[in-house]
Amino acid sequence: MLVTQEPMLRRFWHCLFPLAHLDDKPQAFKLLGEDIVVWKDREGAPHAVQDRCPHRTAKLSGGTVKDDAVVCPYHGWAFEGSGKCTLIPQETAPRDRAIYVRAYHCQARYGQVWVCLDEPAADIPYIEPFGDPTFRQVFEFCEDWSCSPLRIMENEFDAAHLSFVHATSFGNTDPIPALPLIEEHDDGFIARSQPKVRNPEGMRAALQMTEDKTVRTTTGRYYVPFFRVTEIAYPNGLKNILVTALTPIDDHHTRFNQFVLRNDTEAEVSSEQVIAFDRRVTLEDKVVLETTDPAVPLDNIEGFEEHMASDRPGLLMRKKIRQVCDRLRAEAQSPEPRELRLAGE
Ligand code: FES
Ligand SMILES: [Fe+2]
Repeated sequence: MLVTQEPMLRRFWHCLFPLAHLDDKPQAFKLLGEDIVVWKDREGAPHAVQDRCPHRTAKLSGGTVKDDAVVCPYHGWAFEGSGKCTLIPQETAPRDRAIYVRAYHCQARYGQVWVCLDEPAADIPYIEPFGDPTFRQVFEFCEDWSCSPLRIMENEFDAAHLSFVHATSFGNTDPIPALPLIEEHDDGFIARSQPKVRNPEGMRAALQMTEDKTVRTTTGRYYVPFFRVTEIAYPNGLKNILVTALTPIDDHHTRFNQFVLRNDTEAEVSSEQVIAFDRRVTLEDKVVLETTDPAVPLDNIEGFEEHMASDRPGLLMRKKIRQVCDRLRAEAQSPEPRELRLAGE
């Protein structure tokens, strides 16, 4: 699957960047190959429309925000969040027919901006500890990788790469991986495992643990298509919850957004220490993942890839994406009986 060839991916909420990125000016983003512009109104709510002015096609992202509207840099036409043109400075009389730029569903959640290009198929997944006052939020990354989102998501649940890719950080030397127990859900799965890991210098500070080795009790929730919430619990009571949203920019690039929720305090472990360790680990993954094929077959194509037991979570992701997209497609093609009756009237 190349992401732009699966139109049903347009029906999911995708996370673009932290809301704070909109503090100063509108921002351009390419989502599933589509150029959009995002800005924030006076109440702090984000809006997204096509990054193409309907007048002479200039990019609205090069413009400004005035009141609640984005203003084109070329001739000053202004557009509100619905996409409606609210001002043509060159004209004094209102037009008979309103002018629109294409608008998209857009909202803020978890301190991030989310966009859905078509009718949303599901809500943004609920992250229970987000509202728990004993957890703090640390924004970690918002960056682009030259890689498919599915390759990155598979890697997050791949127990076999730890002793290779992460051999110099936390990976155990034993190449036989601890396979997770998997509980399937319609929109993804939960994978539970208890891998033994090393606890090297940088990680000790981030975990407040001095032992050479430790055990992670890992509960990873995967959501179709490219979102995961993985709780890693350590023997000292620390819970480090990784929230990763992988957003398809185009067939070869992915926006990697990650924040963590932790039940400790800034005084115990600084955000810099939290980020520094995860930075090291994700860069180890990035080097390898950016060499992988952006095409990821959702169905088993003989000879395209070979598999092993630890690939099961990744293969299940492919199956779930296939099932959900096929279901959405079927629903779109066969209207409800009530709608059929209406059509026959
Ligand atoms: S191109 Fe946008 S106002 Fe003219
Ligand atoms: Fe990794």
